[in-house]
Amino acid sequence: MNRRAFLAGSVAAPVLTQAGLASETGLRLRAAPAHLQIAPPDYPATSLWAYDGQVPGPALRFRRGDRLEARLVNGLEQPTTIHWHGLRLPNAMDGVPGMTQPPVAPGGHFDYAFTLPDAGTFWYHPHANSLEQISRGLSGVLVVDEAAPPDIDAEDILVLDDWRLTEEAQIHESFGNRHDMSHAGRLGNYITVNGLPELSRDYPSGARLRLRLVNTATARVFRLVFRGLRVWVAALDGMPLDAPQEVDRVAIAPAQRADLLVDIAAALGEEALIASQERDGTYAMVSLRAGGPAQTPRPAPGALPPNDLPDLTLDDARKIPLVMKGGAMRGLPEGATWKGTKMDMRALAQEGQFWAFNGLAGMAEAPLVEAFLGETIRIPITNRTAFEHAMHLHGMHFREVLPGGSLGPWRDTLLVGPDETREIAFVAENPGDWMFHCHMAAHQMSGMMNWIRVT
Ligand code: C2O
Ligand code: CU
Repeated sequence: MNRRAFLAGSVAAPVLTQAGLASETGLRLRAAPAHLQIAPPDYPATSLWAYDGQVPGPALRFRRGDRLEARLVNGLEQPTTIHWHGLRLPNAMDGVPGMTQPPVAPGGHFDYAFTLPDAGTFWYHPHANSLEQISRGLSGVLVVDEAAPPDIDAEDILVLDDWRLTEEAQIHESFGNRHDMSHAGRLGNYITVNGLPELSRDYPSGARLRLRLVNTATARVFRLVFRGLRVWVAALDGMPLDAPQEVDRVAIAPAQRADLLVDIAAALGEEALIASQERDGTYAMVSLRAGGPAQTPRPAPGALPPNDLPDLTLDDARKIPLVMKGGAMRGLPEGATWKGTKMDMRALAQEGQFWAFNGLAGMAEAPLVEAFLGETIRIPITNRTAFEHAMHLHGMHFREVLPGGSLGPWRDTLLVGPDETREIAFVAENPGDWMFHCHMAAHQMSGMMNWIRVT
């Protein structure tokens, strides 16, 4: 494994400054420009947009059943909102401008208030001009603790992000260019953990950690491998697995989360690593130095306490297929309907639309699914494009219907590879209008957006 080289120069191991914990009430998040050192120390500070001047934004921490009350203050020069990603909250708190709330104008504010039904690892980000606002630094983690948290020695939140920086370490302005929109999205040239090029930590050899991983990038899928660690996936997208699953790698698509339980297997004085497999090599992102005194290894961990999810059975489920098309290489030879008008591929491209769901580019007048409250919906998602897509449903978690009919873990975002069909099923348990879109933000803005109505 290599140390990551970026731009030029080497990076001293920085120390994480823990994001301040917000109080339960009176929480205020101000989105505004900031200057922060995210590039290596021999580069200038980066001008970005941040919540409360921090990248990632303040880590919010609550207990299951608490009420979250937060005022978003808009210090940007454009409208914004906050979407609380992965939370089963009331529709009016979902943060989608023009759908669940008016956009928050520059200088304005909006009060969010809702009860947190699930323990787990969640995050928050704007849902207005998402590609630019998220890429410039607006996102943060929301942790909801279980009433009885698992027995661990330490916990860390690891926010994986990807930046496209200029040689002066400034945010590259090329938002929504045609190449990004029609290919894999806005991939960056610099990856960070908690806003830093690399993290290192000291732990006793044998210690058990809980690592809450969140991918806040708008395009990059992090494919992580481990050295000197025993790793179990204990929860995905906030929801505990029935039993932690031991793994030697984990892929985390944009917007996805993974709660890992990790035992430091490295011997005293050795370094354990979490590394990202990229096209050109494997780069260390987090190093965990095994210090003393060594602890005796523990038995495999048990499951995290479950959240109260609906009973999901496939009997009587209604099936609504979704076919994704478009993008570079394959295009939309049969055209698509955009804002009610059937258009050919060239006219669509002129409107910045490169993708379609069931022949519809962008938000359609009618929802993809109109479900009755309590109905079970199955959506086989067929990806006829040459790219992978991270499909996210707001307001409700789903399970994947695996080949053979068994059900996978509860998730809110599913990565669907080229030429794959992957089926999801969910109980329409939450009334309202809910977005269903690709979380590769450049795809979302160029066609891959739809919605589901639950009444
Ligand atoms: Cu993080 Cu519309 O989502
Ligand atoms: Cu996509």
